[in-house]
Amino acid sequence: MCGIVGYIGTKDAFPILIKGLKRLEYRGYDSAGVALLGDKLEVFKKAGKVSALEAFVAEKGRSSSKVGIGHTRWATHGEPNDVNAHPHLSQNGEIAIIHNGIIENYNSLKVELQQRGHKFSSDTDTEVLVHLIEDIYVNNKSLGFEESVRMALSQVIGAYAVVVLHKNMPDLLIGARKGSPMVIGIGENEHFIASDAAPLVEYTRNVVYLNDGEVAVIDKNELIIKTIENDIKTPYIQELEIHLENIEKSGYEHFMLKEIFEQPKSVHDSIRGRISLNEELIEMAGIKQYEHKWMNLKRLIIVGCGTSWHAGLVGEYLFEDLARIPVEVEYASEFRYRNPVLFEDDMVVAISQSGETADTLAAIELAKSKGATIFGICNVVGASIPRASDAGAYTHAGPEIGVASTKAFTAQVTALILIATAVGQRKGTLTKERVRTLLNELETIPSKIEKTLESNELIKYIAEEFKDVSNFLYLGRGYGFPVALEGALKLKEISYIHAEGYPAAEMKHGPIALIDEEMPVVFIATNHSNYDKVVSNIQEVKARKGKVIAVVSEGDTMIRKMADYVIEIPDCDEVLLPLLATIPLQLLSYHIAVMRGCNVDQPRNLAKSVTVE
Ligand code: G6P
Repeated sequence: MCGIVGYIGTKDAFPILIKGLKRLEYRGYDSAGVALLGDKLEVFKKAGKVSALEAFVAEKGRSSSKVGIGHTRWATHGEPNDVNAHPHLSQNGEIAIIHNGIIENYNSLKVELQQRGHKFSSDTDTEVLVHLIEDIYVNNKSLGFEESVRMALSQVIGAYAVVVLHKNMPDLLIGARKGSPMVIGIGENEHFIASDAAPLVEYTRNVVYLNDGEVAVIDKNELIIKTIENDIKTPYIQELEIHLENIEKSGYEHFMLKEIFEQPKSVHDSIRGRISLNEELIEMAGIKQYEHKWMNLKRLIIVGCGTSWHAGLVGEYLFEDLARIPVEVEYASEFRYRNPVLFEDDMVVAISQSGETADTLAAIELAKSKGATIFGICNVVGASIPRASDAGAYTHAGPEIGVASTKAFTAQVTALILIATAVGQRKGTLTKERVRTLLNELETIPSKIEKTLESNELIKYIAEEFKDVSNFLYLGRGYGFPVALEGALKLKEISYIHAEGYPAAEMKHGPIALIDEEMPVVFIATNHSNYDKVVSNIQEVKARKGKVIAVVSEGDTMIRKMADYVIEIPDCDEVLLPLLATIPLQLLSYHIAVMRGCNVDQPRNLAKSVTVE
């Protein structure tokens, strides 16, 4: 939610900020703004995309500046218009701030400040914070600016990543984080600051991830990191793992399409180095570290949101099947506010692409406070969730820019397959032969995904047939059920068509009432358990004149006779089914959305990383 970027150095700041904002646009795209500090402090803000801001600045003209901050917004407080866009200024116009997060006590702070004569021009919580900084600074001259920022932040309840600059201090940017991500890039006589590494990657490979409760005091040559309590910390400089080509479209029309087509590689990368076919073994550091715990687990709780929650559902089937561990899968947002019964010998697996989802982080904190062990499955290296976890596994899918998750999902499922197989092997719930089969099958999955992607043109044709409908139903059983949920979510997210996923047998308890000749029903109908029962469900839909699109195993002849359209996927072991069956559904939603003229990479109202509640 919201992308922030800052620059201090020897180059013209504006092009760096704009480029950085474009790379962060997946985090929010309803308005954007920059503050440029040169001979004067100039602020430009505009509702709409970063390109609208760019055009606005070109029209107005700007001065040159070597220091600046920029923001792309996903609105929480106040509608997305020019005034509510960031940066926000203090009352005297001397301090500018950009903010990602929510200041929960902004109302009480605002009332206090109003009583002291402050006037606010926006509806945002952020403006309150910059007025508070000003109020402390102006009324306590002995404190200094940096100290005033820290004092103001210590009064804030809520989440933030902020960057602040002062008109009369051209050698200073102050960044701070609590609950929202922030990374600092170290260059030659220059520093960058951003919500994630994407805006920095073409300028430097050396970065410092700020921890919660830390403040960065930055000039072009020096970076000082302190805690909010003013204790100096030694910056831990890490080398970036991502490269520029990972975050560009590389000839694809959309990031989402690129990421769908990257799946043979991303799944391969998730497996790489973790399985040894010769020794028939899976090696994962996160399992080794807590091997005793995994071997004796009485229960596993999986938490996540959105697509990651769907991966968690696949995990439930996997851990029960392969490792005979009872599993509960929870929406992180529900789990954190219930009074869940947790035991010290519970393991909580938190799944997240971004590693920054506020609800998942809060669920982790709750589970930790009750003594559970946390295992994080995350895509973004160094993000908050892996750092808050006791152990974990990275999914190695590479940066995912499209807001609708695709390759991150299949990488999460791959990681879960590896973990469940590794645990099952060590516990003895899997025979040697079964482990061998699974490992061999896993090795072939990237090429089977490649094969599945060959249906792209057929799927495009099917999309053309259904692009104008208002509703879709997705049905599956067993491992096909989470796939159905994920297929429905993808369609909703990017095409704005109402879609529901259901366990196929549950159709009789409600959704069947919706079926008529207008209703397309997507079935996951591969040759695995319950095949015959799914075939019966297809017949029930056809008897009511519904339109059936079936994802079937290659060579299926029975369903071909009943369904309106069939999409074949290569034969595979049942536990690997989600890795293949999800792909046609990703493509179907992609093509329908493109045909409807939707912005697939940046769907309305959504954001890739939900760092607020
Ligand atoms: C948002 C994104 C989804 C994602 C969900 C969870 O809603 O748009 O694609 O599945 O957040 O995000 P996470 O980063 O925790 O996987």
